[in-house]
Formats: sequence, C-alpha cells, structure tokens
Amino acid sequence: MSARFDQAVNRKGTNSMKWDGVDELYNGENLWPMWVADMDFQVPSAVIEAVQQEVSKGVFGYPIRSAAVDFAVQSWLQRRFDLEIDAEHIVYTSGVVPAISQIIKQFTEPGDKVIIQPPVYYPFFKVVSNHDRELIENPLVFDGVQYKMDFEHLKSVIDDKTKIMLLCSPHNPVGRVWTEEELKELAEICVEHDLLVISDEIHCDIVFKGHKHLPIASLSEEMRKRTITCMAPSKTFNLAGLQTSYTVIFNPTLRRQFKNHLSQEFLNMFSQIGAVAMEAAYTMGEEWLEELIDYVEGNVQFVKLYIEEHMPKIKVVNPEGTYLLWMDCTDLGMTAAERKKWLTTEAKVALSNGIVFGKEGEPFERINLACSRASVQEGLNRIKRGYDKLT
Ligand SMILES: Cc1ncc(COP(=O)(O)O)c(C=O)c1O
Repeated sequence: MSARFDQAVNRKGTNSMKWDGVDELYNGENLWPMWVADMDFQVPSAVIEAVQQEVSKGVFGYPIRSAAVDFAVQSWLQRRFDLEIDAEHIVYTSGVVPAISQIIKQFTEPGDKVIIQPPVYYPFFKVVSNHDRELIENPLVFDGVQYKMDFEHLKSVIDDKTKIMLLCSPHNPVGRVWTEEELKELAEICVEHDLLVISDEIHCDIVFKGHKHLPIASLSEEMRKRTITCMAPSKTFNLAGLQTSYTVIFNPTLRRQFKNHLSQEFLNMFSQIGAVAMEAAYTMGEEWLEELIDYVEGNVQFVKLYIEEHMPKIKVVNPEGTYLLWMDCTDLGMTAAERKKWLTTEAKVALSNGIVFGKEGEPFERINLACSRASVQEGLNRIKRGYDKLT
C-alpha cells in the first residue's frame, strides 16, 4: 500500500474529461468513471514545483528547444531502456496520436496500406482512414489466456501497397509487453517487406515485475533505420493535458522529412510548461514511478480477487503492463451495446466498451486502474450491484 496513491484527489469540477465529461458522453447520471486513460493521482511533487516556478515567471511567450530537456529525455531512455540516443534524434510533438497521424500523412500516399493489430487503441483506425489510406488488420490471437501476434496472417496480408506497420508496444488494451522473441519475429517481417515501423511506446514506462519493455528500434541497425518511435511522459506521469510528446528517429532522411513536414503544417510548436514538466518528471520522478507501478499492480491483484469471488462470469486478462485492464465478459451473454447499457444504468460505471477497439473487442470491457484502491473498490461494488441483478 502507498499512502501517496491512496489519497483521493477530487477531480470533479476541474474540467476533467474523465470526471466532468462522463455523464454526457455516456448518457448517464453520477457514473463512476473508469474509462479514458489518465490517472486520478497527483503528479510527483517535483513536477508541481517545477511548473509552479515556471508559472511564477509570468511570461508565456514562444519557447525554443532546451538542451536540459533533451538531456532529460536522453538520460531517461538510457536508464530505463538502455536506449542510447543523441539529442538530434528527438523530434518534439504535441501528442502521440497527432504525431502518428502526421507520420502516416508524410510517408504514405492515398491508397497505400497501413497495418494495425486489433483489438487496439481506437484512434489507430482513424489515423489511417482519415487520410484515405487503406487499413489492413492483422488481429491479435487470443487463446483464452494471452494475446499473441499472428505472424503467418501478417505475412499473408502484406503486398506492394503496404507501407507501414503501426505497432502498439506495450499493447493497449490487452496489456501485453511484447517479448524480445516476438519483436524480433515482427522485425524480420518488416525488414523483409521494407515496411516503415511506427512504434507507439507511450505505455513503455508502466511494466510489471518479470517483464521488460524493449524499444523495437533497439533490435538491430535495420530496425533503427526504419522505425519512428513515439513516446511521451503523459501516461507515465499523468501529464496528458500538457500535450507533450516526442518521436525518436535515428534515420536522418526520415527525420529531416518529418521535421520539414511538421514545419510546413505549422505543427512544430510545443508547450513550454509541458517541456518543464517533462524535464522534472524524467529527472526527479523515478521513485514516484516505481511506487506507482507497485500500486497499480496491487490494484490489478485486488480486482482479480474481487472478480473471482463476486463476479465469476467475468474473466480478467492478465496484464503485463499499462494501468488498463482488459476483461472478458463473454459469459455475461450480452452484446457490447447491451453491456454498455447495463453498466451505465444498473451499475452506474463508465468503462471503455471493448467494441471501440475493433470487432474482436466486442465481448470485452477495459477498466482504468490508475486510481486509489478505494476508487477501484467503489467501481467494483457498483459493477457487482449490477451483476447481482443479472443472476
Ligand atoms: C497507445 C496509445 N497511444 C497514444 C495515446 C494518446 O496519446 P496522446 O494523448 O499523446 O495523443 C494513448 C492514450 O491512451 C494510447 O493508449
């Protein structure tokens, strides 16, 4: 247990999408929000102090890039993932999804094909289709316990029009932290078919005991050349509202093209407060993060035991990382729409309905566990009240 994360933070009335937007979005009343992926925790105190200090200057003009922030990012990647990068490899962006969208726009033509692996974070569908690129799905395979990538199917869907593999690593919503062996097999296929790899590694910092995140770009020289890695401190340190993220691009040609593209689209500005927060988080937030990972893992165990005891028709898919838990609701015998209605009217909770992650997600719900144990318990008690009415 951690006193720090047990502390309730009242986010109601703070213009929080999760808390203040939930009733309207889910068309309900007093719903307990366990949906969108941000945390109900206060950020590390060093981050609050750094931002306060920046705010106290009282001037918020256009910023330039800071060597101290570059260094903080470089040190973080080196310490956490053994990934050695130069400052020039970093291209700052104002969000991982906007970055992915612009990479697809820059490096493909209308009609080109981009591969995603559902069930997957739902904007992955739109970043492809919004640009009139063709979406190719290589669904993950679920054996009832764990999800795996389907390499044989992947090989069968690649043709001359296929340009990009959009990887989610670790994978939201199923919680997989891909192993070296899996990533190597994937990398081999991408190299053989000359695919550009966009690796969304936004969840890389929250990985549970016994698992290790491996940036796919670090596998080989070939992968360094063809990978654009998208990262951010936003999931890790609860900074999503500051719109701060970055890409790591080793290949100088890809990097120059991407930077030029951002500049042409007038998307090369960044948030100074965000940069200050990121620097503080990466330099002084490590102890907070280690405690957070333990706490979230504790929440996962708590949910598993609670569900096993009280709601045996729901099966938890064991996560290896992320603060998102994927729950198999097949045995409830409801469609996604029926489940959503039941959860919002009978249980009064807002979860992420599995269908939004692709048709493979239909019988699942995703629950956000980045909140205090008491908050998790409140959510579960509500679901149980709804569950008891079913049986
Ligand atoms: C895999 C993944 N990528 C990107 C994002 C969002 O990134 P951003 O807010 O920087 O666009 C999320 C948020 O949940 C996510 O799960």
